[in-house]
Parts: sequence; C-alpha cells; structure tokens
Amino acid sequence: MDKLYKSKEKGWFELEHGLIQEKMIAITSGKGGVGKSTVTANLAFALNKLGKKVGVIDADIYGFSIPRIMGLKEKPRGKNEEEIIPPQVEGIKVMSMGSMVTEDKAIIWRGPMLLGVLKQFMQEVIWGELDYLLFDLPPGTGDMTLNIMQQISDADVMVVTTPQAAAANVAVRVGNMAKQLDTNIIGVIENMSYYECSDCGKKEYIFGKNGGGRIADNLGTKLLGELPLLPEIREGSDQGSSIILTEPESKVSQEFKKIARQIVK
Ligand SMILES: Nc1ncnc2c1ncn2[C@@H]1O[C@H](COP(=O)(O)OP(=O)(O)OP(=O)(O)O)[C@@H](O)[C@H]1O
Ligand SMILES: [Mg+2]
Ligand SMILES: [Zn+2]
Repeated sequence: MDKLYKSKEKGWFELEHGLIQEKMIAITSGKGGVGKSTVTANLAFALNKLGKKVGVIDADIYGFSIPRIMGLKEKPRGKNEEEIIPPQVEGIKVMSMGSMVTEDKAIIWRGPMLLGVLKQFMQEVIWGELDYLLFDLPPGTGDMTLNIMQQISDADVMVVTTPQAAAANVAVRVGNMAKQLDTNIIGVIENMSYYECSDCGKKEYIFGKNGGGRIADNLGTKLLGELPLLPEIREGSDQGSSIILTEPESKVSQEFKKIARQIVK
C-alpha cells in the first residue's frame, strides 16, 4: 500500500506540502459518543497554547463535527488544481469534510471515497511546517477506523473513553487494533469522569470510577488525564468556542494543558 507520507525517522513525517516534526496522533475510542472530537479540538487548542504548530484532520469523514466544535469559519481555498490552502482557527490548520460539502468551486471534489478524501487531505493540502497533526477518527474499532489507521499506521494512538464505556471490552478491541497495525498507544483519556457540584464542589462519579485507569493498565499505557462532565465543555463545542480560549485558567483548561504537556514530553 502506498503511504500518504514519508517517515524519515520516528516523529518526522514528510507530506507532499508539509512536514510534521513531532507526532501524528490518532484520537480513537472503542465506542461512539465518548468525546473524541471534543478532546481532539481542545487538545489542538492546548498544544497551540504551548506554542506548538498544530494541524487537525477530521477523519470522521461522514460524521464530521470538527468545524462546528472548533468554530471554523473559513473555507479551504484552492490554490490551483492540486493544492489546497487549509482554513485556520487561532493558527490551527483544519481539514474536514464539513468544509468541502458546501460550495467552494475551487475545490475539486472527487466523490465520497473515504480513503480518497484522506489522501486528498494529506497530499493536496498545504500544511507547511507542523509539530503535531491530530486525526479525529470515526467511532469504534470497525472497518472504517481500521482502514484509516492502516493509512496512518505511524501515528500514535490516543484512546478516549468514559468510565462506563471502559467496561465494554474497549481495551481488548483497541489493543487488538494497535497490535494488528503495530502502532504505539500514547495513552488514555478518561472523559466525563465525574460531575463536580457547582454549589459545594462535591464530585459525583456518575458513570462509575477508574474505568480509564483500568483500560490504560490493560493496554500497558498511561492515563493521561481525567476530564469532568461539564456543561461548559458541551456549550463550548456547540458554540465553537473552546473553554481553553474562553476560560483559560479554569481547572478543565489546566487539565487539557496537562495532557498536552505529557504529549510534548
Ligand atoms: N466532558 C464533557 N462534558 C460535557 N459534555 C461533553 C464532554 N465531552 C463531550 N461532551 C459532549 O458530548 C457529546 C459527544 O461528544 P463528541 O462529539 O466529542 O464525541 P465523539 O466521541 O466524537 O462522538 P462520535 O463517536 O459520534 O464521533 C457532544 O455533545 C459534546 O459536547
Ligand atoms: Mg466525533
Ligand atoms: Zn453540592
């Protein structure tokens, strides 16, 4: 299979019109709806705040949600037949099917072929110099996810789970996928870990406790962070205004930055 990039050494990827100096990171989950896209978007902002150059590929081609969550207003522009200038938010370059389905005549749309889209995103977009390229994957570990992962098998895998989704054999499935593709699992993020009462600060573990930690153990990797169930996170992703931008000093924003720092390390 033709690769979509050249890897010179570990963590050094050459694209047709770009260079990734640190990592490609695929954000995956064993189940849908656990917050992959939300985590991808906020992590992109957190890495950006650390001064890193970040690109995001919304690899959930049919179920795209990144443009809304990140508040992407610009559209990709066609420089010529085969070069696409990606839209940016806060200096983060973003490519999503969500930007392509509307009418930009300059973009050549070659049909809804999953891997064709990924290829186009990787090879025709002018990414320039990046430190990190994040991929928001479709839910689950089915064929679609596997197909995409095969194309970017040098990416590190990050697993997002909720405490209760962790019980659903997620570790086994993600582990199998990683083994099959010989990819490195960079860590687990437990999302919707707890709800903190806004009156008294008491933490309620609505979906159970320590699911993320157990998955991390089973996969032989680290738990990178635990994010609370928080109305502001949902509002932020509905309105395209990340909490990292609106409330940079909040505990959640700090947690995202903690996760980002561990990735950078
Ligand atoms: N920590 C959180 N607190 C509150 N709401 C959250 C949190 N994380 C995610 N959400 C909300 O949960 C919903 C699902 O999140 P998201 O779309 O990021 O999940 P996903 O794993 O990408 O889903 P899919 O599998 O469909 O791609 C969204 O409405 C999002 O705003
Ligand atoms: Mg998603
Ligand atoms: Zn209370």
